[in-house]
Amino acid sequence: MSKVIGILAGSLRKESFSKKIGNALIAMAPDGFEFKVVSLDDLPIYNQDFDDHNQIPEAYTVFRNEAKALDGFIFITPEYNRSVPAVLKNALDVGSRPYGQSVWDGKPGAVFSNSPGNVSGFGANHHLRQSLVFLNVPVMQQPEVYINKSNELFDEKGVFKDERSRVFLQKAVDAYIVWFTKNA
Ligand code: FNR
Repeated sequence: MSKVIGILAGSLRKESFSKKIGNALIAMAPDGFEFKVVSLDDLPIYNQDFDDHNQIPEAYTVFRNEAKALDGFIFITPEYNRSVPAVLKNALDVGSRPYGQSVWDGKPGAVFSNSPGNVSGFGANHHLRQSLVFLNVPVMQQPEVYINKSNELFDEKGVFKDERSRVFLQKAVDAYIVWFTKNA
């Protein structure tokens, strides 16, 4: 049976570059793996009362069940004010509770950060890693994946404008598969 890797993009924007990168990764899964985009579009902001008083939003249940069934994760994060956008941090929080039932625990991950600017989401990349340490997600160390000029990656059809970008991301995916296999 294939291992299923979740692709989580930290943006709600319809034309999000992070979502486009995530969609482009789907075709890069090798034999024995399936890459599946996990939507974060409908997740309400985490409120512990929901879990404590058994008033769990349907969207939490759908997301938690979907994430529980996944074997690993590639996080595609943009950067908001030098950190992780709230939508992605919220997904980490929702998936981490109720206490003792985290969907993340022990599953290998990778962080791909991106920005239209030159700093490539470095701050978001490392803030995300900090949370993932606590969540016991073994995160690929090398290669680090920083993607700049995210606004220039794709044409209108979502196809890479420059083959070198596709090759760069394929190498990152291949390294993640090796990491996954060692750490799963
Ligand atoms: C940004 N942007 C941004 N870019 C960056 O490189 N570093 C940053 O700290 C920020 N901060 C920031 C804050 C807020 C509130 C917004 C809306 C935007 C620009 C950001 O990289 C750009 O909007 C991306 O296109 C967002 O990613 P998606 O939606 O294309 O995936």
